[in-house]
Amino acid sequence: MSINTPHGGELIHRIDADAQYVSLTQEIELDNIALSDLELIAIGAYSPLTGFMGREDYLSVVQNMRLAGGQVWSLPITLPVTVETARQLKQGERVKLVQNGIVYGVMEVEEIFVPDKRLEAEQVYRTSDQAHPGVRNLFSRPDVYIGGPVTLVRRPKKGAFADYYLDPSATRSLFEERGWKTVVGFQTRNPVHRAHEYIQKSALEIVDGLFLNPLVGETKADDIPADVRMESYRVLLEAYYPKDRVFLAVFPAAMRYAGPREAVFHALVRKNYGCTHFIVGRDHAGVGNYYGTYEAQQIFRRFSGEELGITLLFFENSFFCTKCGNMASTKTCPHPSEDRVALSGTKVREMLSRGEAPPPEFSRKEVVEVLIRGMRTEAAVKK
Ligand code: ADX
Repeated sequence: MSINTPHGGELIHRIDADAQYVSLTQEIELDNIALSDLELIAIGAYSPLTGFMGREDYLSVVQNMRLAGGQVWSLPITLPVTVETARQLKQGERVKLVQNGIVYGVMEVEEIFVPDKRLEAEQVYRTSDQAHPGVRNLFSRPDVYIGGPVTLVRRPKKGAFADYYLDPSATRSLFEERGWKTVVGFQTRNPVHRAHEYIQKSALEIVDGLFLNPLVGETKADDIPADVRMESYRVLLEAYYPKDRVFLAVFPAAMRYAGPREAVFHALVRKNYGCTHFIVGRDHAGVGNYYGTYEAQQIFRRFSGEELGITLLFFENSFFCTKCGNMASTKTCPHPSEDRVALSGTKVREMLSRGEAPPPEFSRKEVVEVLIRGMRTEAAVKK
């Protein structure tokens, strides 16, 4: 086998720049999450989804982590609209999907339904606490869901990192051109620190290529902005990675912070991009203390390898050990925690915003320079 088969067997493609929509009278305004979901559905990143979920798929995903047809799928992909908008829509009609007056897509309204958001929160995020950023987002979006197939008629603007937006069809061809038979996907919403580098390179020892695929859609306000992160990835790859074994492209989805459920989603989406392997380390896609350190690994036991169709590479919490003099985990290092360089994300961000460099055992100096510069610019812009 060369690159991996898409989830559901076929890469979905729902882009048609010539689709007719001028005669359509109704429109649905998209928020940033819905706009990015529309594009991700259309380019096949969410295969086998062909549109926003109807009630049956939605309930089945919320309750059983499967689409109504039985395929594994862990996060609801929904289009929320206000009650007023929903009242104007008719089942079976075609509507425009717009943001700020620009038409991005067309949708056939198959279903209009009111979700039980508390149930969704409890099942998907395992909490209804609105201090959780994913739950807060869920409740702050409108209350009626519209389900139905979509067509993308215009690509959203890409900004400074346009070259790093590649559709799954493009990454698949690229992996094939490079002759990679095995490709490991790496999800991140952070700069690549030494721990990330360690697990990526451990994986690179056993597979042909690394697909570094940082998420650049909506994140919470205190995560490091995507443009600063992109610059930090570029300098890191330039200085420390073999060029012909790594490929960097962005994942334009919104972060849900759904921990274990999101880890499954992240793996399936990377399968669609062509990956054969996917890394899940400690507290993948987690936030605060909502999820246990390794729950995002344990959740995969609920599915067979065959139905997932992507090989998971699980990593223990890794750190720099001053006694060992290298990166390690409790699987490889016998020394006590006093010998380990460990910093929380919050602590690192505080240091960076004071212009203070985290130790080189935690983060490469090239990366730190970019981050400090980026934080300064961000602070100056906010003033
Ligand atoms: S995430 O929200 O996108 O998962 P992050 O960018 O922090 O956040 O993590 C990217 C990947 O690296 C995840 O699989 C995560 O589990 C893993 N990871 C992050 N830090 C460590 C660490 N110190 N040890 C092991 N795995 C880690």
